[in-house]
Amino acid sequence: MKISKKMETAINKQIAAEFFSAYLYLAMSGWFESENWKGCAHWMTKQANEEVAHAMKFFHYIVARGGTMELLAIPKPKAVWKHPIDAFSDAYAHEIEVTKMINGLVDTAKKEADTATESFLNWYIDEQVEEEEHASEIVDKLEKIGESKNGLFMLDHQLGKRE
Ligand SMILES: [Fe+2]
Ligand SMILES: [Fe+2]
Repeated sequence: MKISKKMETAINKQIAAEFFSAYLYLAMSGWFESENWKGCAHWMTKQANEEVAHAMKFFHYIVARGGTMELLAIPKPKAVWKHPIDAFSDAYAHEIEVTKMINGLVDTAKKEADTATESFLNWYIDEQVEEEEHASEIVDKLEKIGESKNGLFMLDHQLGKRE
């Protein structure tokens, strides 16, 4: 069954949102690079790549359901933060917003009686739990670290090991 126009439009918007997430994390990566927090920069680049993968998964899904993929404009992200904790707090807040967007897509799928999309979205629901958990864990560590330079160096080293 071909995807409905409403569902297609909603997913196309989500594709732009996933690319915006990639943009935001790349901006954070650039800022971390400029501050010489190379491990944090590495973590953010990996995160940006994951967001592109999320977008591509939607991309293939629309095609598989006989829909039309439309690439919408991506807004310019913020580029400067005061402290690593501000960037990671923004990342965490952003993931909560994305979770709300995915929940909105589930609502649309239910209204459209689109069980295939509802089922497909389960992957994103699980993924958002992980995304929120990872970001909030780092924010929590940064809160504990406070202004300890040693702590920051250790965390930066740890985040630099992300596969
Ligand atoms: Fe995502
Ligand atoms: Fe994400």
